[in-house]
Amino acid sequence: MQSFENQIAFITGGASGAGFGQAQVFGRAGAKIVVADIRAEAVAKAVADLTAEGITAHGITLDIMDRAAYAAAADEVEAVFGAAPTLLFNTAGVNSFGPVENTSYDDFDWIIGVNLGGVINGMVTFVPRMIASGKPGHIVTTSSVGGLMGSALAAPYSAAKAAVVNLMEGYRMGLEKYQIGVSVLCPANIKSNIAEASKLRPAQFGQSGYVENEDSIASLHSIHQHGMDPVELAQHVKAAIEANQLYVIPYPEMKDALRAHFDAIVDSVLPLEADPEGARLRTEALQNWAADRARVFMEKQGAK
Ligand SMILES: NC(=O)c1ccc[n+]([C@@H]2O[C@H](COP(=O)([O-])OP(=O)(O)OC[C@H]3O[C@@H](n4cnc5c(N)ncnc54)[C@H](O)[C@@H]3O)[C@@H](O)[C@H]2O)c1
Repeated sequence: MQSFENQIAFITGGASGAGFGQAQVFGRAGAKIVVADIRAEAVAKAVADLTAEGITAHGITLDIMDRAAYAAAADEVEAVFGAAPTLLFNTAGVNSFGPVENTSYDDFDWIIGVNLGGVINGMVTFVPRMIASGKPGHIVTTSSVGGLMGSALAAPYSAAKAAVVNLMEGYRMGLEKYQIGVSVLCPANIKSNIAEASKLRPAQFGQSGYVENEDSIASLHSIHQHGMDPVELAQHVKAAIEANQLYVIPYPEMKDALRAHFDAIVDSVLPLEADPEGARLRTEALQNWAADRARVFMEKQGAK
């Protein structure tokens, strides 16, 4: 996608941080913006700020964990703007830090529920609508560099973000034929309000194994105040959409750590000489199976 003029952009977490930066950058580039966020007051303020600078913006208060509300939000976008979004930004996320061995079910359920479940809900809600619109589009999901390596202090977050990277790799392959691009953004540090995320924890996920208090929040602010400006980050995202780039990781300080991590994985793979005949048979079996399943699926589609 090269022009953002009159595109419809649905941005989860659009009321703050990275999401609000995306609303500003894509709004200034001519897109109509939907700010979808769980905090109603922040949604109203974001829409007012965008509107004040001449951007067409609509706000929806949405908990991305709520599937019925998500479908209603999608209907609302079509009612307001007359079409499905052509740009989907799965940006909303929450985090909480504590030792992996202390992690409770509520920690897992909330953090994975928002960061992975919320993205799944976005994809299942919008992908069929984007395909049905017949228009080229682009989806950007915000993961994290934490999704590219394990973490002993943010294990549920890291696991959810890892799943999101993998999911976007799959969707990118699947959606190419519909001219829908898919990118995954892996930030390292954003100047945002994520330090306050624990305040959004719903009562039903209240039993945390971590320490969440004003002191832990202040300590996180000390990191994020030095993070990348959300507008600058969104400009990297815009360039990545224009180049139809899968991975968006505009953080040079992460290069060596990521290289060491992925080298360790690749180095653990046996060389081909270790089992050439077995490797050939397994590869062939998989390719034959995939070709057969693709044929069956195409026939089923054709029969509809
Ligand atoms: N801040 C960082 O350093 C950093 C690093 C890597 C990745 N990220 C990711 O970037 C994304 C944006 O975060 P941010 O740093 O801008 O934080 P932020 O807190 O400023 O913005 C996140 C927004 O998501 C909203 N939100 C939270 N739960 C929601 C829910 N259930 N439904 C709808 N909206 C919800 C919040 O209200 C908030 O407005 C997140 O996915 C986060 O995990 C952030």
